[in-house]
Amino acid sequence: MGLQENLQELARRNEEALQGGGLDRIKKHHEQGKLTARERVELLLDPGTFVELDRFKTHRCTDFEMEKKKTPGDGVVTGYGNVDGRQIFVFSQDFTVFGGSLSGAFSEKICKVMDLAMKTGCPVVGINDSGGARIQEGVVSLAGYGEIFLRNVLSSGVVPQISAIMGPCAGGAVYSPAMTDFIFMVENSSYMFITGPEVIKTVTHEEVTMQELGGAETHNGRSGVAHFSSPSERESIHAIRELLSFLPSNNTEDPPIRPTSDDPNRRDEQLNALIPDNPNKPYDIKELIKGIVDEQYFFEVQQDFARNIVVGFARIGGRPVGIVANQPAFLAGVLDIDASTKGGRFVRFCDCFNIPIVSFVDVPGFLPGTSQEYGGIIRHGAKLLYAYCEATVPKICVITRKAYGGAYVVMSSKVLRSDVNLAYPGAEIAVMGPDGAVNIIFRNAIEKAADSQAERERLVNEYRQTFATPFKAAELGYIDEIIMPADTRYHLIRALSMIQNKREKNPPKKHGNIPL
Ligand code: HXC
Repeated sequence: MGLQENLQELARRNEEALQGGGLDRIKKHHEQGKLTARERVELLLDPGTFVELDRFKTHRCTDFEMEKKKTPGDGVVTGYGNVDGRQIFVFSQDFTVFGGSLSGAFSEKICKVMDLAMKTGCPVVGINDSGGARIQEGVVSLAGYGEIFLRNVLSSGVVPQISAIMGPCAGGAVYSPAMTDFIFMVENSSYMFITGPEVIKTVTHEEVTMQELGGAETHNGRSGVAHFSSPSERESIHAIRELLSFLPSNNTEDPPIRPTSDDPNRRDEQLNALIPDNPNKPYDIKELIKGIVDEQYFFEVQQDFARNIVVGFARIGGRPVGIVANQPAFLAGVLDIDASTKGGRFVRFCDCFNIPIVSFVDVPGFLPGTSQEYGGIIRHGAKLLYAYCEATVPKICVITRKAYGGAYVVMSSKVLRSDVNLAYPGAEIAVMGPDGAVNIIFRNAIEKAADSQAERERLVNEYRQTFATPFKAAELGYIDEIIMPADTRYHLIRALSMIQNKREKNPPKKHGNIPL
């Protein structure tokens, strides 16, 4: 063939590959309100930066007459490109080709970009829309999943891994996204489950729809499997770009600084009035966070799950930080099983990727109850504690009001190698609240007193004056500084700048044994 023929052949093959499973299937896909694999990649990356790899790769299966059914690319679009000028790797499963099902060749394509991402230290974004293992390929397909799972684990903590679920993701296939750092889902069109509604009906006789079982609402609000939910694919992809803007490309880099015009000395007088004097009155911790961070921009993670703890990213003086905050407006900000696992995982993510952690503490303790104890609050609460202890990134803590008992210790207390511990003048730091404490340590005295009620009140007041303030803790050096809420931004910027070159290492070991 001459050059002209070669070019024509290339153009023909390109045309064929770009059509995926064909125009009819693309039309059907669009009619369901879904974008194609390629359209998703184009939206994710800066315009004109996508470089596709393995566009012509095909499967090698010869069973079930599969050799007659080949589509260039074999159902997954892979390659690299930029997000805000920084390189990432991407794979995007194409439901129009064999239902996006995974073959050996399909897996090899994904593994190739995962390997390149590791070699070059770049994030990986995987867009999932697949009927799972390609049934015709049998064990080859299962092994293909195994290859991906292995790479997910080896990449964990080295490069950020992000999963978007934009269609089905079922059976063992869910475990690749599950081992990545963040899962994005789209309302009404994506679902994840291990066994589907039909199998469940047969085995347990429960009737449940796909969406009830594994839709975006279920996994964002109930199971905690997913981290973000968006009404549309476009919004979901936009949110992925937004998340990446806070993250370094790999674990050897610092997160990117974004200069801000927000004044580092800005005071917010309203914050002085935000926290009610009455310790039993709720307030919204997100109001406090927004009043402090650059441009009031708080990018919340898992906002519908375990709402008693708030986690997410923001910038303070241009520097990305991870924020962990008890939420007094939901279950009084108590720590329970879900809040502990949510917080623990987030703290560990920040620690992997050199993102300083700022904790806002207003916590009455751990949630009492048989369901919590039987559910293993000891084991799960330990995850948050373990994560804070293990983290070597800069850690800054602000006690806004209550900090009681074990929950005080867990939430970035000084002795867990927290670098800067601040408290507001109204902070209460003690083993437990005044009423409970007085009942225990002065039970005899109260019973014997002529006027038990008056004696009780006197003792509660005395206890409150001793411990329901930050001064005792400050006298002992557990609190570095007592600050006014209005000045929090200034103090955090100073603290972050002071500690930015922190170097701290854990003892050498294969890996720790976090309570799972
Ligand atoms: C091969 C598949 C396929 C698969 C779908 N297709 N899933 N081909 N292997 N796993 C093909 C269909 O034959 C069809 O081809 C095309 O993709 C579109 O599928 P439809 O069924 O027409 O689409 P829809 O009605 O939208 O239903 C989507 C679906 C359904 C719910 C995902 O296809 C489905 O239930 N598929 C099987 C899911 C499954 O059980 N997978 C195995 C899970 S276990 P044509 O040519 O007709 O267009 C698993 C284990 C992983 O994955 C283990 C990892 C360790």
